[in-house]
Amino acid sequence: MTLAGWLEGLERLAQSRAKAGLTRSLRSRGPADAVVDMAGNDYLGLARHPDVVAASARALDAYGLGATGSRLVRGSTEEHAALEAELADWLGAERALVFSSGYLANMAAVRGLAPRETLIISDAYNHASLIDGCKISGAETVVVPHADPAEVAARLDARAPGRPAVVVTESVFSVDGDLAPLAELHAVTSARDALLLVDDAHAVGLLGPEGAGGVAAARIAGAPGVIVTATLSKSLGGGGGVIAGPATFIRHLIDTGRTFIYDTAPPPAVIAGVRAALRVARSAADRRAVLRERADLTVRRLRAAGFDVATPAAAVLSVTAPGPEAALAWAADCRDRGVAVGCFRPPSTPDGSARLRLTLNAGVKDGDFARALDVIVECAP
Ligand SMILES: Cc1ncc(COP(=O)(O)O)c(C=O)c1O
Repeated sequence: MTLAGWLEGLERLAQSRAKAGLTRSLRSRGPADAVVDMAGNDYLGLARHPDVVAASARALDAYGLGATGSRLVRGSTEEHAALEAELADWLGAERALVFSSGYLANMAAVRGLAPRETLIISDAYNHASLIDGCKISGAETVVVPHADPAEVAARLDARAPGRPAVVVTESVFSVDGDLAPLAELHAVTSARDALLLVDDAHAVGLLGPEGAGGVAAARIAGAPGVIVTATLSKSLGGGGGVIAGPATFIRHLIDTGRTFIYDTAPPPAVIAGVRAALRVARSAADRRAVLRERADLTVRRLRAAGFDVATPAAAVLSVTAPGPEAALAWAADCRDRGVAVGCFRPPSTPDGSARLRLTLNAGVKDGDFARALDVIVECAP
Protein backbone atom coordinates (compact mmCIF):
# COMPACT_ATOMS: atom_id res chain seq x y z
CA MET A 1 0.00 0.00 0.00
CA THR A 2 1.27 3.51 -0.81
CA LEU A 3 1.45 6.29 1.76
CA ALA A 4 -1.29 8.17 -0.10
CA GLY A 5 -3.43 5.02 -0.11
CA TRP A 6 -2.98 4.68 3.63
CA LEU A 7 -4.26 8.19 4.29
CA GLU A 8 -7.12 7.74 1.82
CA GLY A 9 -8.10 4.58 3.70
CA LEU A 10 -8.16 6.48 6.98
CA GLU A 11 -10.24 9.22 5.34
CA ARG A 12 -12.80 6.63 4.16
CA LEU A 13 -12.98 5.16 7.68
CA ALA A 14 -13.52 8.67 9.12
CA GLN A 15 -16.37 9.23 6.64
CA SER A 16 -18.09 5.97 7.54
CA ARG A 17 -17.76 6.82 11.26
CA ALA A 18 -19.29 10.23 10.54
CA LYS A 19 -22.22 8.58 8.70
CA ALA A 20 -22.85 6.31 11.68
CA GLY A 21 -22.73 9.23 14.15
CA LEU A 22 -19.48 7.93 15.65
CA THR A 23 -17.20 10.91 15.13
CA ARG A 24 -15.47 12.15 18.29
CA SER A 25 -14.21 15.67 18.75
CA LEU A 26 -12.03 17.49 21.24
CA ARG A 27 -13.37 20.54 23.03
CA SER A 28 -10.98 22.70 25.04
CA ARG A 29 -12.23 24.44 28.15
CA GLY A 30 -10.67 27.49 29.78
CA PRO A 31 -10.08 28.06 33.50
CA ALA A 32 -13.23 30.20 33.79
CA ASP A 33 -15.45 27.69 31.97
CA ALA A 34 -19.04 28.42 33.03
CA VAL A 35 -20.52 25.16 31.79
CA VAL A 36 -22.31 23.06 34.45
CA ASP A 37 -20.41 19.79 34.75
CA MET A 38 -22.63 16.72 34.38
CA ALA A 39 -19.98 14.85 32.40
CA GLY A 40 -16.71 14.80 34.34
CA ASN A 41 -15.57 12.48 37.11
CA ASP A 42 -14.73 15.02 39.81
CA TYR A 43 -17.56 13.50 41.87
CA LEU A 44 -16.64 15.02 45.23
CA GLY A 45 -15.67 18.36 43.67
CA LEU A 46 -12.10 18.08 45.00
CA ALA A 47 -10.09 18.98 41.89
CA ARG A 48 -10.25 22.65 42.87
CA HIS A 49 -10.53 22.24 46.65
CA PRO A 50 -8.27 24.86 48.31
CA ASP A 51 -6.42 22.28 50.46
CA VAL A 52 -5.78 20.14 47.39
CA VAL A 53 -4.54 23.02 45.25
CA ALA A 54 -2.34 24.36 48.08
CA ALA A 55 -0.75 20.94 48.77
CA SER A 56 -0.07 20.47 45.08
CA ALA A 57 1.42 23.98 44.76
CA ARG A 58 3.75 23.34 47.73
CA ALA A 59 5.01 20.12 46.15
CA LEU A 60 5.38 21.82 42.78
CA ASP A 61 7.57 24.40 44.42
CA ALA A 62 9.56 21.76 46.30
CA TYR A 63 10.03 19.14 43.59
CA GLY A 64 9.51 20.96 40.30
CA LEU A 65 7.24 19.86 37.48
CA GLY A 66 7.87 16.22 36.73
CA ALA A 67 8.90 13.05 38.56
CA THR A 68 12.08 12.99 36.42
CA GLY A 69 12.10 9.24 36.03
CA SER A 70 10.30 5.95 36.42
CA ARG A 71 9.32 4.81 39.90
CA LEU A 72 12.33 2.47 40.14
CA VAL A 73 14.87 5.02 38.93
CA ARG A 74 14.33 8.61 40.21
CA GLY A 75 10.54 8.89 40.17
CA SER A 76 9.63 7.72 43.69
CA THR A 77 9.40 10.64 46.11
CA GLU A 78 8.36 10.80 49.76
CA GLU A 79 4.95 11.94 48.47
CA HIS A 80 4.53 8.69 46.49
CA ALA A 81 5.54 6.55 49.47
CA ALA A 82 3.24 8.43 51.85
CA LEU A 83 0.30 8.19 49.45
CA GLU A 84 0.80 4.44 49.04
CA ALA A 85 0.71 3.94 52.82
CA GLU A 86 -2.42 6.12 53.09
CA LEU A 87 -4.17 4.31 50.23
CA ALA A 88 -3.40 0.89 51.73
CA ASP A 89 -4.85 2.03 55.04
CA TRP A 90 -7.97 3.49 53.37
CA LEU A 91 -8.63 0.53 51.09
CA GLY A 92 -7.96 -2.02 53.85
CA ALA A 93 -5.14 -3.73 51.96
CA GLU A 94 -1.72 -4.89 53.09
CA ARG A 95 0.04 -2.71 50.53
CA ALA A 96 -0.70 -0.33 47.66
CA LEU A 97 1.23 0.64 44.56
CA VAL A 98 0.69 3.87 42.64
CA PHE A 99 0.83 4.04 38.84
CA SER A 100 0.67 7.03 36.51
CA SER A 101 -2.90 6.16 35.49
CA GLY A 102 -5.76 3.86 36.36
CA TYR A 103 -5.49 2.44 32.85
CA LEU A 104 -1.92 1.33 33.43
CA ALA A 105 -2.75 0.02 36.92
CA ASN A 106 -5.50 -2.17 35.46
CA MET A 107 -3.26 -3.54 32.74
CA ALA A 108 -0.60 -4.44 35.30
CA ALA A 109 -3.12 -5.93 37.71
CA VAL A 110 -4.70 -8.31 35.21
CA ARG A 111 -1.39 -9.32 33.68
CA GLY A 112 0.18 -9.80 37.11
CA LEU A 113 -2.71 -11.96 38.34
CA ALA A 114 -3.06 -14.06 35.22
CA PRO A 115 -0.06 -15.97 33.98
CA ARG A 116 -0.72 -17.61 30.60
CA GLU A 117 -2.25 -20.84 31.98
CA THR A 118 -4.89 -18.88 33.94
CA LEU A 119 -8.59 -18.74 33.07
CA ILE A 120 -9.81 -15.13 33.17
CA ILE A 121 -13.53 -14.56 33.59
CA SER A 122 -14.39 -11.01 32.62
CA ASP A 123 -17.69 -9.13 32.94
CA ALA A 124 -19.15 -8.12 29.54
CA TYR A 125 -19.27 -4.46 30.56
CA ASN A 126 -15.70 -4.15 31.82
CA HIS A 127 -13.67 -1.04 31.00
CA ALA A 128 -11.24 -1.00 28.07
CA SER A 129 -8.25 -0.98 30.44
CA LEU A 130 -9.35 -4.30 31.98
CA ILE A 131 -10.02 -5.74 28.53
CA ASP A 132 -6.56 -4.68 27.37
CA GLY A 133 -5.09 -6.23 30.54
CA CYS A 134 -6.77 -9.51 29.62
CA LYS A 135 -5.34 -9.27 26.10
CA ILE A 136 -1.76 -8.56 27.13
CA SER A 137 -1.82 -11.33 29.73
CA GLY A 138 -2.10 -13.89 26.92
CA ALA A 139 -4.40 -15.97 29.15
CA GLU A 140 -7.67 -17.47 27.91
CA THR A 141 -10.43 -14.94 28.62
CA VAL A 142 -14.10 -15.84 28.83
CA VAL A 143 -16.47 -12.87 28.70
CA VAL A 144 -19.55 -13.55 30.81
CA PRO A 145 -22.91 -11.75 30.81
CA HIS A 146 -22.98 -8.62 32.93
CA ALA A 147 -23.32 -9.03 36.73
CA ASP A 148 -24.04 -12.74 36.62
CA PRO A 149 -22.45 -14.62 39.58
CA ALA A 150 -24.22 -17.88 38.61
CA GLU A 151 -22.55 -17.84 35.19
CA VAL A 152 -19.20 -17.03 36.83
CA ALA A 153 -19.68 -20.00 39.16
CA ALA A 154 -20.55 -22.28 36.24
CA ARG A 155 -17.44 -21.21 34.32
CA LEU A 156 -15.23 -21.76 37.35
CA ASP A 157 -16.77 -25.17 37.99
CA ALA A 158 -16.17 -26.19 34.37
CA ARG A 159 -12.43 -25.46 34.43
CA ALA A 160 -9.81 -28.19 34.70
CA PRO A 161 -9.08 -29.14 38.32
CA GLY A 162 -6.34 -26.95 39.79
CA ARG A 163 -6.34 -24.45 36.91
CA PRO A 164 -5.75 -20.94 38.32
CA ALA A 165 -8.59 -18.49 37.67
CA VAL A 166 -9.26 -14.81 38.15
CA VAL A 167 -12.61 -13.07 37.96
CA VAL A 168 -12.44 -9.46 36.75
CA THR A 169 -15.14 -6.86 37.34
CA GLU A 170 -15.74 -3.21 38.00
CA SER A 171 -17.61 -2.28 41.18
CA VAL A 172 -19.70 0.66 39.95
CA PHE A 173 -19.81 0.33 36.17
CA SER A 174 -18.50 3.30 34.28
CA VAL A 175 -21.33 3.77 31.77
CA ASP A 176 -24.50 2.39 33.38
CA GLY A 177 -23.55 3.29 36.97
CA ASP A 178 -24.86 0.04 38.48
CA LEU A 179 -23.02 -1.88 41.20
CA ALA A 180 -21.62 -5.37 40.63
CA PRO A 181 -22.86 -8.05 43.05
CA LEU A 182 -19.50 -8.03 44.82
CA ALA A 183 -20.41 -10.04 47.92
CA GLU A 184 -21.96 -12.77 45.74
CA LEU A 185 -18.99 -12.77 43.37
CA HIS A 186 -16.65 -13.07 46.33
CA ALA A 187 -18.66 -15.98 47.75
CA VAL A 188 -18.34 -17.68 44.34
CA THR A 189 -14.59 -17.04 43.93
CA SER A 190 -13.57 -17.84 47.50
CA ALA A 191 -15.49 -21.15 47.45
CA ARG A 192 -13.73 -22.09 44.20
CA ASP A 193 -10.17 -21.03 44.98
CA ALA A 194 -10.23 -18.19 42.43
CA LEU A 195 -9.00 -14.61 42.67
CA LEU A 196 -11.32 -11.61 42.42
CA LEU A 197 -10.04 -8.39 40.84
CA VAL A 198 -12.30 -5.38 41.36
CA ASP A 199 -11.81 -2.04 39.61
CA ASP A 200 -13.25 0.39 42.16
CA ALA A 201 -12.63 3.46 39.95
CA HIS A 202 -16.18 4.84 40.17
CA ALA A 203 -16.85 3.92 43.82
CA VAL A 204 -13.83 5.04 45.84
CA GLY A 205 -14.65 8.26 47.64
CA LEU A 206 -18.36 7.52 47.26
CA LEU A 207 -19.36 4.18 48.79
CA GLY A 208 -18.39 2.40 51.99
CA PRO A 209 -17.08 3.63 55.34
CA GLU A 210 -15.06 6.85 54.86
CA GLY A 211 -15.69 6.46 51.13
CA ALA A 212 -13.32 3.49 50.98
CA GLY A 213 -15.20 2.14 47.96
CA GLY A 214 -17.47 -0.61 46.71
CA VAL A 215 -15.18 -3.36 47.97
CA ALA A 216 -15.23 -1.90 51.48
CA ALA A 217 -19.03 -1.46 51.27
CA ALA A 218 -19.35 -5.16 50.39
CA ARG A 219 -17.17 -5.99 53.42
CA ILE A 220 -14.59 -7.86 51.37
CA ALA A 221 -11.72 -5.36 51.63
CA GLY A 222 -8.54 -7.19 52.57
CA ALA A 223 -10.19 -10.62 52.20
CA PRO A 224 -7.86 -13.33 50.89
CA GLY A 225 -7.83 -13.39 47.10
CA VAL A 226 -9.37 -9.92 46.66
CA ILE A 227 -7.32 -7.34 44.75
CA VAL A 228 -8.53 -3.80 44.16
CA THR A 229 -7.60 -1.22 41.58
CA ALA A 230 -8.76 2.38 41.41
CA THR A 231 -7.96 5.61 39.70
CA LEU A 232 -6.86 8.76 41.53
CA SER A 233 -8.38 10.84 38.75
CA LYS A 234 -12.08 10.69 39.60
CA SER A 235 -13.39 11.34 43.13
CA LEU A 236 -9.84 12.22 44.25
CA GLY A 237 -9.70 14.91 41.57
CA GLY A 238 -6.10 14.30 40.49
CA GLY A 239 -4.43 11.69 38.33
CA GLY A 240 -2.80 8.30 38.66
CA GLY A 241 -3.92 4.81 39.53
CA VAL A 242 -3.47 2.31 42.33
CA ILE A 243 -3.40 -1.42 42.93
CA ALA A 244 -4.09 -2.55 46.52
CA GLY A 245 -3.61 -6.11 47.69
CA PRO A 246 -1.29 -8.53 49.46
CA ALA A 247 2.28 -7.26 49.96
CA THR A 248 3.65 -10.28 48.08
CA PHE A 249 1.60 -9.42 45.00
CA ILE A 250 2.72 -5.79 45.13
CA ARG A 251 6.34 -6.98 45.37
CA HIS A 252 5.69 -9.10 42.26
CA LEU A 253 4.36 -6.05 40.40
CA ILE A 254 7.36 -3.91 41.36
CA ASP A 255 9.65 -6.59 39.92
CA THR A 256 7.61 -7.52 36.83
CA GLY A 257 4.83 -5.00 36.08
CA ARG A 258 5.72 -3.54 32.69
CA THR A 259 3.38 -0.53 32.97
CA PHE A 260 4.97 0.22 36.34
CA ILE A 261 8.61 -0.35 35.45
CA TYR A 262 8.75 1.29 32.03
CA ASP A 263 6.64 4.37 32.71
CA THR A 264 7.60 7.75 34.17
CA ALA A 265 6.17 8.16 37.67
CA PRO A 266 3.20 10.49 38.18
CA PRO A 267 4.38 14.04 39.08
CA PRO A 268 4.96 14.64 42.82
CA ALA A 269 2.72 17.74 42.73
CA VAL A 270 -0.19 15.61 41.52
CA ILE A 271 0.51 12.97 44.17
CA ALA A 272 0.66 15.61 46.92
CA GLY A 273 -2.69 17.00 45.71
CA VAL A 274 -4.20 13.51 45.75
CA ARG A 275 -2.97 13.01 49.34
CA ALA A 276 -4.80 16.18 50.39
CA ALA A 277 -7.89 15.09 48.43
CA LEU A 278 -7.81 11.72 50.19
CA ARG A 279 -7.76 13.42 53.59
CA VAL A 280 -10.83 15.47 52.61
CA ALA A 281 -12.56 12.47 50.98
CA ARG A 282 -12.32 10.31 54.09
CA SER A 283 -14.37 12.78 56.08
CA ALA A 284 -16.60 14.03 53.27
CA ALA A 285 -19.85 12.49 54.54
CA ASP A 286 -21.57 15.80 53.70
CA ARG A 287 -20.47 15.67 50.07
CA ARG A 288 -21.54 12.03 49.80
CA ALA A 289 -24.96 12.98 51.19
CA VAL A 290 -25.29 15.75 48.57
CA LEU A 291 -24.53 13.20 45.84
CA ARG A 292 -27.15 10.75 47.15
CA GLU A 293 -29.78 13.51 47.22
CA ARG A 294 -28.86 14.57 43.70
CA ALA A 295 -28.98 10.99 42.45
CA ASP A 296 -32.54 10.65 43.81
CA LEU A 297 -33.56 14.01 42.39
CA THR A 298 -32.15 13.19 38.95
CA VAL A 299 -33.88 9.83 38.79
CA ARG A 300 -37.22 11.30 39.89
CA ARG A 301 -36.96 14.17 37.41
CA LEU A 302 -36.00 11.96 34.45
CA ARG A 303 -38.62 9.34 35.24
CA ALA A 304 -41.28 12.03 35.52
CA ALA A 305 -40.22 13.14 32.01
CA GLY A 306 -40.78 9.58 30.73
CA PHE A 307 -37.23 8.22 30.69
CA ASP A 308 -36.28 4.77 31.83
CA VAL A 309 -33.45 5.41 34.31
CA ALA A 310 -32.01 3.06 36.89
CA THR A 311 -31.16 4.37 40.36
CA PRO A 312 -27.39 4.97 40.35
CA ALA A 313 -25.21 3.13 42.84
CA ALA A 314 -22.93 6.15 43.19
CA ALA A 315 -22.57 9.18 40.91
CA VAL A 316 -22.97 7.82 37.36
CA LEU A 317 -26.32 7.52 35.55
CA SER A 318 -27.15 6.45 32.08
CA VAL A 319 -30.12 7.52 29.94
CA THR A 320 -30.86 5.61 26.76
CA ALA A 321 -30.94 7.65 23.54
CA PRO A 322 -32.71 6.50 20.36
CA GLY A 323 -29.36 6.07 18.54
CA PRO A 324 -25.83 7.46 18.20
CA GLU A 325 -26.85 10.51 16.14
CA ALA A 326 -29.73 11.39 18.46
CA ALA A 327 -27.41 11.07 21.46
CA LEU A 328 -24.88 13.34 19.77
CA ALA A 329 -27.53 15.98 18.99
CA TRP A 330 -28.93 15.76 22.54
CA ALA A 331 -25.50 16.29 24.07
CA ALA A 332 -24.73 19.14 21.65
CA ASP A 333 -28.00 20.92 22.48
CA CYS A 334 -27.26 20.60 26.21
CA ARG A 335 -23.79 21.98 25.60
CA ASP A 336 -25.18 24.96 23.66
CA ARG A 337 -27.31 25.71 26.71
CA GLY A 338 -24.36 25.53 29.09
CA VAL A 339 -24.55 21.94 30.37
CA ALA A 340 -21.86 19.35 29.69
CA VAL A 341 -23.14 15.76 29.52
CA GLY A 342 -21.38 12.60 28.40
CA CYS A 343 -22.39 11.00 25.12
CA PHE A 344 -21.56 7.30 24.91
CA ARG A 345 -21.70 5.50 21.61
CA PRO A 346 -20.11 2.33 20.23
CA PRO A 347 -17.49 1.05 20.96
CA SER A 348 -18.15 2.32 24.52
CA THR A 349 -21.67 0.85 24.26
CA PRO A 350 -22.97 -2.20 22.37
CA ASP A 351 -23.40 -1.67 18.60
CA GLY A 352 -26.33 0.52 17.56
CA SER A 353 -27.07 1.70 21.11
CA ALA A 354 -26.23 5.07 22.59
CA ARG A 355 -26.65 6.84 25.90
CA LEU A 356 -26.21 10.09 27.65
CA ARG A 357 -24.04 9.50 30.64
CA LEU A 358 -24.73 11.93 33.44
CA THR A 359 -22.36 12.30 36.34
CA LEU A 360 -22.91 14.09 39.62
CA ASN A 361 -20.46 16.55 41.13
CA ALA A 362 -20.91 17.68 44.74
CA GLY A 363 -19.05 20.90 43.88
CA VAL A 364 -21.76 22.12 41.48
CA LYS A 365 -24.06 24.73 43.06
CA ASP A 366 -27.66 23.68 43.81
CA GLY A 367 -29.16 26.25 41.41
CA ASP A 368 -26.84 25.18 38.56
CA PHE A 369 -27.67 21.55 39.19
CA ALA A 370 -31.44 22.22 39.05
CA ARG A 371 -31.00 24.21 35.83
CA ALA A 372 -28.90 21.41 34.32
CA LEU A 373 -31.71 18.91 34.93
CA ASP A 374 -34.18 21.25 33.21
CA VAL A 375 -31.88 21.62 30.22
CA ILE A 376 -31.34 17.86 29.87
CA VAL A 377 -35.09 17.21 29.88
CA GLU A 378 -35.89 20.12 27.54
CA CYS A 379 -33.22 19.07 25.00
CA ALA A 380 -34.34 15.43 24.86
CA PRO A 381 -34.97 14.10 21.34
C1 LIG B 1 -13.75 1.81 35.26
C2 LIG B 1 -12.52 2.56 34.87
N1 LIG B 1 -11.33 2.02 35.12
C3 LIG B 1 -10.19 2.65 34.79
C4 LIG B 1 -10.20 3.87 34.16
C5 LIG B 1 -8.92 4.50 33.76
O1 LIG B 1 -8.48 5.39 34.73
P1 LIG B 1 -7.47 6.58 34.33
O2 LIG B 1 -8.29 7.62 33.67
O3 LIG B 1 -6.86 7.00 35.62
O4 LIG B 1 -6.48 6.01 33.39
C6 LIG B 1 -11.43 4.48 33.89
C7 LIG B 1 -11.58 5.80 33.22
O5 LIG B 1 -10.89 6.68 33.16
C8 LIG B 1 -12.62 3.81 34.25
O6 LIG B 1 -13.82 4.35 33.99
